[in-house]
Amino acid sequence: MDLFKTAEAMDAYMQGALLAPDPVLERVARASEAAGLVPHAVTPLQAAFLAMMVRLTSARHILELGCLGGYSAIAMARAMPADGKLVTTEIDTRTAQVAADNIATSGYGERIDLQIGPAMTVMEAHLKQGSIFDLVFIDADKVNHRHYLEMALKMVRPGSLIIADNVVRGGDVLDTASKQNSVRGVRDMFAFAQTLDHVHMTGLQTVGDKGHDGMALFLVDAV
Ligand code: DHB
Ligand code: MG
Repeated sequence: MDLFKTAEAMDAYMQGALLAPDPVLERVARASEAAGLVPHAVTPLQAAFLAMMVRLTSARHILELGCLGGYSAIAMARAMPADGKLVTTEIDTRTAQVAADNIATSGYGERIDLQIGPAMTVMEAHLKQGSIFDLVFIDADKVNHRHYLEMALKMVRPGSLIIADNVVRGGDVLDTASKQNSVRGVRDMFAFAQTLDHVHMTGLQTVGDKGHDGMALFLVDAV
């Protein structure tokens, strides 16, 4: 078996062994696919990872950049206490309508504030308002990954976790001469990361249902 086939089979095996059937997220995935959204949501195992990070950090104020159909937003919101709030952004109005329907149907709508517009604009408004978050999931256009990380660091309390999705892109991120703006955005983010003090960082490659990609994690020092 080639690596991707093995990885896909392992995802199915671990999902079967570790995750209970999840009618809420399964419905979101089905509705998103039926609406023709791009298949870029996190996998069920990755959603469980994000939910675990929410629990580990006891996050009550989450910012997600890039909502798509609401799959990861719902997975994270569900892992918060009932009075937790998650802000998520979506640039595309048609996609946002699908997400709004999914969020309303999920039963977690009270915790989720879907803000329509470019992630940068929404983030700038929150920065101006003095919003504080304790977990940020960066998953919008990858072009501005560095700027999202830089701004997120200004909006989080000590001990907060920032997670950046899609930092590997099948290895395209290795290409120093890439003309893909998304690759350049991710490489800019890594160059910026090298300048950071008081942030504990790591990168995790992911391989499975959604190909070969990865997440970078930034834990802001608690002191
Ligand atoms: C893409 C975006 C994502 O957020 C993702 O998880 C996978 C792929 C993309 O734009 O190609
Ligand atoms: Mg992503």
